[in-house]
Amino acid sequence: MHTDFSISDPAKAEKGIKRIEWAYAEMPVLQQLMARFSEERPLSGRRIGACLHVTTETANLMRVLKAGGAEVALCASNPLSTQDDVAAALVDHYDIPVFAICGEDNDTYYRHIDAVLAKRPEITLDDGADLISRLHRNTPELLPKMLGGTEETTTGVIRLRAMAADGALGYPVVAVNDAMTKHLFDNRYGTGQSTLDGIIRATNILLAGRTFVVVGYGWCGRGIAMRARGHGAHVIITEVEPLRALEATMDGFEVMPLLQAAPRADFIVTASGDKHVVDRHHLEAAKDGCVLANSGHFDVEINIPALEALSREVRTPRRHVQEYHLNDGRVLRLLAEGRLVNLAAAEGHPAAVMDMSFANQALAVAWIASEGRGLDHAVHPMPPALDAEVATLKLASMNIAIDTLTEAQQRYLSSWQEGT
Ligand SMILES: NC(=O)c1ccc[n+]([C@@H]2O[C@H](COP(=O)([O-])OP(=O)(O)OC[C@H]3O[C@@H](n4cnc5c(N)ncnc54)[C@H](O)[C@@H]3O)[C@@H](O)[C@H]2O)c1
Repeated sequence: MHTDFSISDPAKAEKGIKRIEWAYAEMPVLQQLMARFSEERPLSGRRIGACLHVTTETANLMRVLKAGGAEVALCASNPLSTQDDVAAALVDHYDIPVFAICGEDNDTYYRHIDAVLAKRPEITLDDGADLISRLHRNTPELLPKMLGGTEETTTGVIRLRAMAADGALGYPVVAVNDAMTKHLFDNRYGTGQSTLDGIIRATNILLAGRTFVVVGYGWCGRGIAMRARGHGAHVIITEVEPLRALEATMDGFEVMPLLQAAPRADFIVTASGDKHVVDRHHLEAAKDGCVLANSGHFDVEINIPALEALSREVRTPRRHVQEYHLNDGRVLRLLAEGRLVNLAAAEGHPAAVMDMSFANQALAVAWIASEGRGLDHAVHPMPPALDAEVATLKLASMNIAIDTLTEAQQRYLSSWQEGT
């Protein structure tokens, strides 16, 4: 039993176990990998450090990696997303050291990352690249021993590509986010459902008939817009990329600059991966009572210092809601301190979608363990065969069969001679 961990309350373990098992039942692909990893032990003796949202689904990924023979240590990738009962269950029941407490301050957050680095991992798992960037900065002595890492989200992949472009990336990393079976489903359907879930749990405000602005029509933004429309909201998209703006238009959404949308918005939800996309001038133009929420990775999308500067008082009428009373008399309602609303105010993505994301993670880690030192110090795509394997396993788990190409069709599709 590990004695080195940092969690809020071990007494919460019982509840955590039940919830982890509940999620596991919704993760059939991971279940199959659990059986395979237990038998083949592809990670035997490997030390793995993970910096992920500490949720029930992550707990199941940790269990699979451990079943594969790895020694695993986990810290949080966001100070507000840790499910304390899950952290307790991992420590108490599954004997996996966890360093994560919901609501931890920034110093504790980084102290917990350092605790994982102190385990001297050879493989890292990141969601946002905080662990890997801390490793490069504070414990570079680990770099020569590193086999590789994985990255779960768009923002982390962008950071890692920037590191690679600077020649600063010290080991190979797999961009799990870029697997088709990850971002097409997790970012779109997962973020779509869980973001709406977070907003509704935090506010219990009716969405039907309201104006709902989504900032950024990427994979996450598309999902949020789709689900907000399903609730009967009038959805407006703001974008900076012409192609995405055009797509949103043809998907039937109104598209306009945020400054024009803000006075009409009952909700403004960001999913851009960009900084201060809701800036001071937007806040100055925003409609009285507007709800502000973020589903992008970092809490930089809404300019919170500007919101504070414009306000005379902040009240907390409900959990996860801060009401900013502005000097001009308007009130703006910020959810979850501008952090990932789906993880802070709800439970993150449903397990059935994380099943695919984390099957990709498990397969990527096993691939790194087999290939690691032979790979360039670059950001690698998920091997397409593994991506396809996740899709095949997921379909099978849903009892969905598909057709196969005939030989004649295969020939036709690979020939150039046949025309009209
Ligand atoms: N909440 C979650 O659980 C969750 C899940 C997956 C990804 N993410 C995070 O969500 C963010 C978006 O991810 P994605 O996969 O949708 O990325 P993406 O690159 O597909 O989409 C981002 C979009 O935002 C647009 N954008 C950038 N700056 C803008 C601005 N100033 N105004 C309007 N639009 C702007 C871009 O043009 C792009 O179309 C990232 O930070 C990612 O890490 C969160």
